[in-house]
Amino acid sequence: MTTTNVLKSLLLLSCGAIAGGFLATQVAHRSTPLAVVAQTGSRTGDGDSTKLLADVAHLKDIVPGQSHAMIDVGYHMVNLWFAVQKGNWPFAAFELDETRNRIRWTIRINPVRKDADGKDVDLKGIFDGIDQSSMPILKRAVEKKDSAAFVVAYKQMLESCYACHKASGKPYLRPMIPTARLQTIINDDPNAKWPE
Ligand code: HEC
Repeated sequence: MTTTNVLKSLLLLSCGAIAGGFLATQVAHRSTPLAVVAQTGSRTGDGDSTKLLADVAHLKDIVPGQSHAMIDVGYHMVNLWFAVQKGNWPFAAFELDETRNRIRWTIRINPVRKDADGKDVDLKGIFDGIDQSSMPILKRAVEKKDSAAFVVAYKQMLESCYACHKASGKPYLRPMIPTARLQTIINDDPNAKWPE
């Protein structure tokens, strides 16, 4: 089970607990924050449910932020660039999938953000558009092992990344073609002979 799945299960479990034994308490103490209820426990008189609430509060506290997940997006996008420079197409395909998965993860963390003026920014809607435009074009270039098409598609993808950053009120997060690797532990040379 992934961390996200564990978190989802716990959230579902806790929803059940709230719907069942907790409803009356929650209504009576509507203004009491979850974490306070979880920590005091005395308001519920139900040890198991209190523990669940405490666990949920703890998990919420340790879930990585959107910015943390976005750093992963950048990492995989850099690996993608260098994989193609080396003509390592299977590695490139892997990194492209990882890039897409990480963007989707960041959106699950926070699907709607506020911009600087407090207006909602629908990140999911923005990515759904990218996922039907720049993303499949990039995927096709990698599948066809077409370096020239890849460069065009990669730049187009960076423009899409930037469109979302601007929409999110962060125009200073301007992506560029990477100039240096972020990792040296995975060999991107497709002709490497070691380890066997
Ligand atoms: C759907 C919207 C969206 C898309 C698409 C998107 N980003 Fe982001 N990105 C964000 C937001 C929002 C932040 C700021 C997160 C925060 O500060 O909490 C961010 C931040 C970042 C950061 C800075 C992380 C840090 O804190 O230093 C990097 C790097 C980044 N994005 C890379 C990319 C790359 C590369 C792409 C395209 C492959 C991309 N992003 C696509 C929304 C998006």
